[in-house]
Amino acid sequence: MAEVNRVGILTGGGDAPGLNGVIRAVTMRCVNDYGYEVLGIKRGWRGLLQREDDSTRPLTVDDARYILQEGGTILGSSRTNPYKNEGDAEKVVENMKEYGVDALVAVGGDDTLGVARRLYDDFGVQVVGCPKTIDNDLSATDTTFGYDTAVSIATDAIDRVRTTAKSHERILVVEIMGRNAGWITWGAGVAGAANVTLIPEVEPDLDEIANIFKARAERGEKWGVIAVSEGVVLDEDYITQNAEKDEFGHARLGGIGATLAGEIKERTGIDTRHVVLGHLQRGGTPTAYDRILSTRYGLRAAEAVKNGEWGQMVALRGSEIVTVSLNEATEETKTVPDELYRAAETFFG
Ligand code: F6P
Repeated sequence: MAEVNRVGILTGGGDAPGLNGVIRAVTMRCVNDYGYEVLGIKRGWRGLLQREDDSTRPLTVDDARYILQEGGTILGSSRTNPYKNEGDAEKVVENMKEYGVDALVAVGGDDTLGVARRLYDDFGVQVVGCPKTIDNDLSATDTTFGYDTAVSIATDAIDRVRTTAKSHERILVVEIMGRNAGWITWGAGVAGAANVTLIPEVEPDLDEIANIFKARAERGEKWGVIAVSEGVVLDEDYITQNAEKDEFGHARLGGIGATLAGEIKERTGIDTRHVVLGHLQRGGTPTAYDRILSTRYGLRAAEAVKNGEWGQMVALRGSEIVTVSLNEATEETKTVPDELYRAAETFFG
């Protein structure tokens, strides 16, 4: 194992509340307890690929001290994929050397961590992963930070639209992020007691949903709330905002709320509107749970660097923070199991 003096840290992919908690914990432990220097790499993999004038910033304990409760990431983020164009991965490795980065903590979801895994496999890069995503779709960890905050925000939104839906005798459809995994919607649907919750894992039957609201109307409740994941499939396809794809090949999901509202209105005759929560779910201060989880992940990631646990990702298993291989971590998308969804279904109506 090459000696470690300087540890780089980057945050990639969609931001998630808690990223600054990881940066703070990694920096404080590395500097105070292990005597390493910490170099912040800005804008995810882009910072290591493009080496712009402002691609790095040294991180001191003072820089890290008051950022725990800040949303976003002080390092910025991007969806740059160094494995998209030939030769870019080599550039990343070369630039790490130029920056004198001996070890790297990569904080991200399956895309960012997939790149970390390949850099470790292909070039032996001394990298440790840290799982982040509001979508909670990473296998190998019980949960990711950002998820709790996103569920809390979406739950609050459901609570709020319910009162206005009731006042105006409307159905309100709340479109929730999460890509192809229904975790946020499932969590918010259960916590917010939505009348119907729809996730990408289960194709909805629109007539059945309409019947739920017709039955409610018959008993005097001509209103209701539907929580729907942006990735819900209708007529065998999901709905996208446009034809654009990001560097990892992901479509920009969005639009199901409006489509569903139209379909439900047509079938029930009840005024049906929609709201799209969008990036509100990713912004702002993390919940206490996400502050604690991101801190624990950051501390364990720093320890993994000290131990030379390369190619590993920190993960929550039960109440313990452990390390698992990046291979295992990025193998498959974690979706909502059928039995959990059926539990939510108990409360439909
Ligand atoms: O992966 C997090 C996430 O917020 C998804 O839930 C969503 O589909 C996507 O990112 C949106 O990405 P962007 O902010 O790049 O549009």
